[in-house]
Amino acid sequence: MTTFGNSSRFGTSSALELCLGGNTFGWTSSREVSFEVLDSFTGAGGSLIDTADSYSAWVEGNSGGESETIIGQWLAARGNRDDVVLATKVSQHPEFKGLAPKNVAAAAEATLRRLGTDHIDLYYAHFDDEQTPLEETVGAFEELITAGRIRAVGVSNYSADRVRQWFEIARREGYTLPVALQPHYNLVHRGDYESGLSEIARAEDLAVMPYFSLASGFLTGKYRNRTDLEGAARAGMAGKHLSEQKLRVLETLDAIASRLEVAMPTVALAWLRTRDQVTAPIASARTPEQLPALLAGARLQLSAEDAQALTAVSSAVED
Ligand SMILES: NC(=O)c1ccc[n+]([C@@H]2O[C@H](COP(=O)([O-])OP(=O)(O)OC[C@H]3O[C@@H](n4cnc5c(N)ncnc54)[C@H](OP(=O)(O)O)[C@@H]3O)[C@@H](O)[C@H]2O)c1
Repeated sequence: MTTFGNSSRFGTSSALELCLGGNTFGWTSSREVSFEVLDSFTGAGGSLIDTADSYSAWVEGNSGGESETIIGQWLAARGNRDDVVLATKVSQHPEFKGLAPKNVAAAAEATLRRLGTDHIDLYYAHFDDEQTPLEETVGAFEELITAGRIRAVGVSNYSADRVRQWFEIARREGYTLPVALQPHYNLVHRGDYESGLSEIARAEDLAVMPYFSLASGFLTGKYRNRTDLEGAARAGMAGKHLSEQKLRVLETLDAIASRLEVAMPTVALAWLRTRDQVTAPIASARTPEQLPALLAGARLQLSAEDAQALTAVSSAVED
């Protein structure tokens, strides 16, 4: 069996340590531009694509599923389903909320239809659903595995305890174990992952794919004050980071990027790749022009000194 990153249980390999985020598709990237981003990503050797059934329901006029639909149309146009690894998520689509078994089964079928494929490579529980007994959710994912509708299981936005419980249930029942963890993790948001989740990720050899790797664009350095955020689609998210401590992280990032003659997001992604169990940061590109800096971040090897300088300055951030 080939492996994905550190996880010996994800039967897929990806040469490029970058997962392309799909929440721009149908939001800040039109269908045409999304196709260009996807073409550029796969043309550069990328294969891992992340989306969710709910993307991008938050946009006025959308109902959820727009990102999967665009990816499905692109796969059909290019005829390259076997060349990509599709990761998507369940629990947040307005019509398929939560993780009750019937809902998971129906949501998965809707996703498969939108993607125009007969299987999902990696299926995440998007957010924990404490109203549904975890045994039932774990069982629902196992049914999809047995039916061949999904190939691997992942969890996102779960606490360390709940991830541990998922493993306990799966082991007890003889079910397939999760292979991937998708936490919110970046240079200005370290606590969630580093205070508990990293431990279980290491113990269970989970492939960790952080989301918001660029802190919604903040770590690209282009949003440094309120004026920079005016009119930006990500103003709400990126604007949360305009604190003194976080701006200090940007200064260090900027200094290292300038010395290495690379872009700031390149260094931000390279730092994530130095962290425990991280196999492929997830980042999205609104345009094909934004992509090269992300691709470079999948390859840059930071020196121990540079990685340490970033770790030190970001340790002071209270998030
Ligand atoms: N599991 C979860 O709950 C969860 C939550 C959120 C996201 N995700 C996943 O993680 C992915 C990444 O998150 P995200 O896209 O929200 O945030 P992100 O990757 O931290 O930021 C991406 C944004 O930064 C800007 N950007 C990227 N490259 C740039 C460059 N070279 N120069 C200038 N700006 C650049 C673009 O936005 P602008 O140009 O518009 O500024 C881009 O859309 C998503 O697509 C999704 O797949 C998962």
